[in-house]
Amino acid sequence: LERTFIAIKPDGVQRGLISEIIGRFERKGYKLVAIKLIVPTKEFAAQHYDDLSSRPFFNGLCDFLSSGPVVAMVWEGQGVIKYGRKLIGATSPQASEPGTIRGDLCVQVSRNIIHGSDGPETAVNEIGLWFKPEELVSYTKNDEKWLYE
Ligand code: GTP
Ligand code: MG
Repeated sequence: LERTFIAIKPDGVQRGLISEIIGRFERKGYKLVAIKLIVPTKEFAAQHYDDLSSRPFFNGLCDFLSSGPVVAMVWEGQGVIKYGRKLIGATSPQASEPGTIRGDLCVQVSRNIIHGSDGPETAVNEIGLWFKPEELVSYTKNDEKWLYE
């Protein structure tokens, strides 16, 4: 099954939205396979967002991601990369539909509370950047037989 990297950014942590965000992925039927709370360095944040290094907001983005604790996670499930991005909503909360995480829970693009990998290759790279292989836990979850035929 597919895996994706999801992070609750410092604003989501500070605003007390950890359980709300994790709950949405959990209730959907995805499986949590790794989780940790870390304060990334600015250099690490820059590595994570290196595809955006030419953008005017890059410096502020890296300062922000490294400004406090981040909940780093790996979620597993059929189609989780693409559908996880649907649960998250559009990059700008102003464009996110109600019912999505960003649509329901935040206002500004630079404070959009959550990150999700944008494709299969990015997912592999980001999981490898944030986690050691032994931090990923493979296990059987009881609801799998009810989620998948
Ligand atoms: P992530 O899941 O965080 O990667 O967001 P995304 O994939 O929806 O958007 P993208 O990768 O293009 O941008 C990464 C992050 O940069 C966004 O989540 C925003 O926090 C920030 N960002 C993107 N566009 C803008 C912008 O125009 N202005 C500002 N200030 N921040 C932006
Ligand atoms: Mg992105």
